[in-house]
Amino acid sequence: MQQVKSSISEGFSSRWGFIFAAAGSAVGLGNIWKFPYITGANGGGAFVLIYIAAVLVIGLPLLVAEISIGRMGRENPVDALLNIIKAHKASKLWSLIGWFGILAAFLVLSYYSVVAGWTLDYTVHSFSGNFENLTPVEVGNLFDGLLANPGKLLLYYTIIIFVTGLIIARGISKGIEKAVFILFPVLVIILLALVFYAAQTGFLSKGLSYLFHPDFSKISDQSILAAIGHALFSLSLGIGTMITYGAYLPKKVSIGFTAVVVTIFDTVIALLAGITIFPIVFAHGLTPSAGPGLIFKTLPIAFAKLPYGHLFASLFFIMLIIAALTSTISLLEPSIALLLKRTKLSRVKATTLSCAVVWCVGLLSLFSFNIWANFKIFNLTLFELVDFITSNLILPINGFFLAIFMTWIIKRGDLVEELNMQTSLFKIWFTVLRYITPIGILIVLLHGLI
Ligand code: TRP
Repeated sequence: MQQVKSSISEGFSSRWGFIFAAAGSAVGLGNIWKFPYITGANGGGAFVLIYIAAVLVIGLPLLVAEISIGRMGRENPVDALLNIIKAHKASKLWSLIGWFGILAAFLVLSYYSVVAGWTLDYTVHSFSGNFENLTPVEVGNLFDGLLANPGKLLLYYTIIIFVTGLIIARGISKGIEKAVFILFPVLVIILLALVFYAAQTGFLSKGLSYLFHPDFSKISDQSILAAIGHALFSLSLGIGTMITYGAYLPKKVSIGFTAVVVTIFDTVIALLAGITIFPIVFAHGLTPSAGPGLIFKTLPIAFAKLPYGHLFASLFFIMLIIAALTSTISLLEPSIALLLKRTKLSRVKATTLSCAVVWCVGLLSLFSFNIWANFKIFNLTLFELVDFITSNLILPINGFFLAIFMTWIIKRGDLVEELNMQTSLFKIWFTVLRYITPIGILIVLLHGLI
């Protein structure tokens, strides 16, 4: 494809800048909060296997596709698609993928920041040693008490959005890249320390066998759907995040290599989070099937009883804050890139505007835990509804159309040139993305809707 004209003036300075930013985006609450509890709720090992398969046949091929679209189109998700559409004389309707992506990014950011706010509260509690002084019942009540307290939620939620805005306002290399170069390695170091700590509980092997010993009798259709949905969410796909970051990727860098490294980071970190959490939970005869409360209710009780529990609980929640922040910035950036291209706003003003809008939208999720708890649509609270619309609808639909656009609309020769991969690898990627990925997603979608 011919070189496109781009309005983007700066990008990542190296391939590791991109890898840390993309891995930081992928590694988030999804890995540390959601993955362990959905694994717990779906019976452990067999679910992990299905998840890994979903990452390989749906996640990784789409990740390569999104990064390529970004680097070929060299703009925000909407204009990158429009650039490619123009070069291939395709229908402008394909750019809807970009618009829906940006909408989804906004929605995910709004409720994601609410959950990220909880982790701030928990960091404060663990630092002050609260978990040790309370009975298990009281620790459980702490979580319910937090959700019932709109003022406190609002404070922490606002801090998260504010810090996200601060980083984004500074730009790509001075903001995003600098932040992830510090934050991501810190996250990995804390996680490794926690794995080591969990190994000392004496329940490591029980945790490992729970994660890796497959019991297929526990697998239902529902768990397969959950695995595929989570593979998309965890790799930050379907939203335009990876398209946007792809637009900032230097031309010479290999897309295949970076995508594989990001996928390995994302998957290994989710597994390590499980390897940390399950032994600690088992060490106290607690169960890992508590659902969303697993790390907010069960884990603090477990930490409180362990030696140096309060130190390691603090580290654990700091790690969550870091994981959340490197993801929230990646959710905000697509809309900033769009505003910069299509308006005359400065980066600071565009960031302020976006943050203000997201903040307002997030109030719907925030209040759905307390003052609007009884307001339900299709029997879902607003928080659950926004999560459903994004994770179960927009992400898979966008993923489906991206796979089709990539392999049926764009000229194959352009992809060969952009990806510069070994021919056999290229063929595998192309075939999987052309047939298996869309069919897999379609099954999930139809199933989820019926
Ligand atoms: N992947 C992140 C997580 O696992 C969340 C996230 C960041 C995301 N950017 C995204 C999810 C884009 C979907 C799309 O927590």
